[in-house]
Amino acid sequence: MAGLNLKLHIFLNIILSIVIICSPASKSFSTKSFLKCFSPHLKHNSKMVPIFSEIILTKNSSSYSSVSQSSIRNRRFLKTPSRLKPEIILTPFHESHVQAAVVCSTQNDIQIRVRSGGHDYEGLSYVSDHFSPFMIIDLNNFRSIKVDIEKEVAFVQAGASVGELYYKIAEKSGVHGFPAGSCPTVGVGGQFSGGGFGTIFRKYGLAADNIIDAIIVNVKGEILDRKSMGEDLFWAIRGGGGSSFGVILSWKVKLVRVPPTVSIFHIQKTLEEGATKLFHKWQRTANRIHEDLFLHATTGVASTNEINRKTIKVSFTSLFLGTAQKLVSLLEESFPELGLEISNCTEMSWIQSVLYFAGFSTDDPLEVLLNRNMTAGFFKAKSDYVKEAISEASLEVIWKRHIEDEGSVLIWTPYGGRMSEISDSEIAFPHRNGNLYGIQYLVYWSEDNETANHIGWMRRFYSYMEAYVSKSPRAAYLNYRDIDIGKNDIGNTSYSKASTWGVKYFKHNFKRLVSVKTKVDPCNFFRNEQSIPVMES
Ligand code: FDA
Repeated sequence: MAGLNLKLHIFLNIILSIVIICSPASKSFSTKSFLKCFSPHLKHNSKMVPIFSEIILTKNSSSYSSVSQSSIRNRRFLKTPSRLKPEIILTPFHESHVQAAVVCSTQNDIQIRVRSGGHDYEGLSYVSDHFSPFMIIDLNNFRSIKVDIEKEVAFVQAGASVGELYYKIAEKSGVHGFPAGSCPTVGVGGQFSGGGFGTIFRKYGLAADNIIDAIIVNVKGEILDRKSMGEDLFWAIRGGGGSSFGVILSWKVKLVRVPPTVSIFHIQKTLEEGATKLFHKWQRTANRIHEDLFLHATTGVASTNEINRKTIKVSFTSLFLGTAQKLVSLLEESFPELGLEISNCTEMSWIQSVLYFAGFSTDDPLEVLLNRNMTAGFFKAKSDYVKEAISEASLEVIWKRHIEDEGSVLIWTPYGGRMSEISDSEIAFPHRNGNLYGIQYLVYWSEDNETANHIGWMRRFYSYMEAYVSKSPRAAYLNYRDIDIGKNDIGNTSYSKASTWGVKYFKHNFKRLVSVKTKVDPCNFFRNEQSIPVMES
């Protein structure tokens, strides 16, 4: 009899998991009905959240605009037409608010955009061109960070910035760090779920490689940790982006050891000073050099002594996990053409190098890392990966096209080291062995009416670069989101459409991401212009 019951139970479970009824998207959304569903959940923790208006903002709220714009990092999205703006902005104080928001959103057919640091290059955490009505869950109040130096771990809530994490680590230890990005205002929610690389990633891998647990609210409003979400979903949210799978509340990360003394240098050369030859050598050196050494190149347009003649300035900037003396010997061996001397190098602590790469003075107080304000300019970005060195002759032509837009900046990041050792299917981030370097193309401008010109330059330049970069697919980095490489249809996602950009971001991991998505969010509730689609039946 017991055996029969068990069989019946298994049968029902199978039927339930096959027959999933997804309700069609509703045409009208009622704020009132959403609030009626959500309000009872606030009582749960009245001590922490006494004022309703602090946590929920509607389009009529006086602080709606200021909160909506508070972490917009790209002015292209500041003047968004009202139809693309959220119906509601929720700034939860407690996990139960996020759970309630998910449950009430699914019941009221309103889409969710999750915003941690707001740095999404296409504004997908706060603007919706395709999927409305929508609300923002802004995790600005989810910023607690606990560092346990003895266990060499940190618990960091998703709304914290990488600067806040670095600061908290430095408060406890001068010989620990974390391999995330260089810009302190970026949110750990978006960055870690998309990968996250910085100056020590050749030694330690990505931020996502160093995540050991996570807390997420799934589409049913349940709170899951690594054990309860299972290894598939835990795999997906390390590199596959969080926004397709749920609302990530926090990460548990493994800290890494850094030496008490690190060294930096910065050497600039113009084309007239032989930059092309140096850059050509850099391409074949920086990814093979010792993993303690990060040597990236930035190229930008600079003036010359001649009126109306521009040049390209190549900046080689480096962080070495060791003393200046060792750094100079290493480069004498592998890159003597750079002519590095001890006088070019500065020794400092790792946290001072964080200040340096963030654009601060190394003497600034560490509290500057806590400042989340950032001047938002207009910009557009794209990315590529390079597997074979570009010839000097081709570089000369690339520089000519680069010079055409004075606001253009290219960041060339060497891979290799630990990045080549980790399998490309270990986590959802796939860009590992075989890449010499990644390129980030950026173009900045300051006036709204210049937008079309600069975006036009970017598209032409990207198209020109096709010959020199990875192929089948032409790979791209999710965290440098680029809507030009494809987007889901209005209000819908389809596998075949999504695979065009999905394969660029995730390569062969795209298929597994689709399968995880189908399992954890079969009705495709968490969706956006570039979300992972569910499997087509
Ligand atoms: P935002 O809040 O806009 O989120 C980005 C995406 O993640 C959105 O789709 C959002 O919905 C989703 N998301 C955010 N939080 C989530 C959560 N808790 N749960 C589920 N989904 C969530 N990258 C890098 O690797 N190294 C670097 O050095 C830099 N440097 C850098 C500098 C500057 C100035 C910018 C603007 C960007 C970078 N980046 C970077 C890229 C950055 O890592 C990328 O834009 C991240 O997605 C930003 O994360 P935020 O949380 O700030 O953005």
